[in-house]
Amino acid sequence: MKIMITGGTGTVGSATVRRMLQAGLTPHVLVRSPEKAAALPAGAVAVAGDLQKPDTLAAAFAGVDRLFLLTALAPDETQQGLNAVAAARQAGVRRLVYMSIHRLESALQIPHFGSKKPIQDAIAASGLEYTFIQPNNFFQVDHWFRDAIVQYGVYPQPIGSIGMNRVDVRDIADAVVNALTQEGHHGAAYPLIGRDALKAGQVAEIWSRHLGRDVRYAGDDLDAWAAQSRPYLPEWLVHDLRIMYDHFQKHGLPAAEEEFAWQEKVLQHAPRRFEDFVAETAAVWKG
Ligand SMILES: NC(=O)c1ccc[n+]([C@@H]2O[C@H](COP(=O)([O-])OP(=O)(O)OC[C@H]3O[C@@H](n4cnc5c(N)ncnc54)[C@H](OP(=O)(O)O)[C@@H]3O)[C@@H](O)[C@H]2O)c1
Repeated sequence: MKIMITGGTGTVGSATVRRMLQAGLTPHVLVRSPEKAAALPAGAVAVAGDLQKPDTLAAAFAGVDRLFLLTALAPDETQQGLNAVAAARQAGVRRLVYMSIHRLESALQIPHFGSKKPIQDAIAASGLEYTFIQPNNFFQVDHWFRDAIVQYGVYPQPIGSIGMNRVDVRDIADAVVNALTQEGHHGAAYPLIGRDALKAGQVAEIWSRHLGRDVRYAGDDLDAWAAQSRPYLPEWLVHDLRIMYDHFQKHGLPAAEEEFAWQEKVLQHAPRRFEDFVAETAAVWKG
């Protein structure tokens, strides 16, 4: 059973590669550059390819039985995903697990939510066995904010005060590996959600407690957030994320109670807690 994974050098993908290796599986990782190939953990197999270059995918997907498809944030994300689905069908891939987003359908006006919908639709119509893994905001996004949190005592992600059931990427990896390797997940769309509906103020308070220093929420001002983000992010992404944070501030991204039982079918353990993630991360950051 040859398993391929895209995005295997990124946040979710690298956790998934590690989880596969722990499970005794051999991940074949689609990589765009030799440097990234060299940095893969022992036991993972690098396969050259690029989702933007369909002519690279026939060789990359040859002999693949199961594919974990992750599409990165990009203005042409839809096309990249459709390239992957077409190549998977042609290569005779039998099962495809696609990572999209929690409550995708409720916020298609957010560019990187809307860009995943045609990919999901193409997969559902493809005739392949498929499963959708739909995570909430990752705990590990907070790694990007280390300097703001540790040096300036500011939590900068403008998620507002409705609440979001943020999730640990290690739970996503567990769910992906189960969906790839077990029977009974065909046609399912699973939310990947943490237990607590976290508000920005609570997130800042939890960081504060574990770091032993004041951490305050930077606030809901999206003009200020965009101005701060422009030196680090391309304009299309500032625009996209601004629409997303505006949605989160108005509606949150909360889980419904019944979604936990549904998640359990693929996760098969209790979701990891944000408090534990912060305790673990704060210990590392404090050295
Ligand atoms: N952040 C969140 O809280 C959150 C929540 C729910 C869903 N999501 C979704 O998660 C996805 C991002 O996942 P992530 O954070 O794990 O990604 P990431 O850390 O940004 O990594 C992106 C991965 O995709 C690869 N990649 C980029 N362009 C590619 C291409 N043209 N062909 C092949 N591979 C390519 C990258 O490879 P290189 O190493 O070569 O760059 C890298 O491995 C997005 O679709 C986002 O909407 C995010």
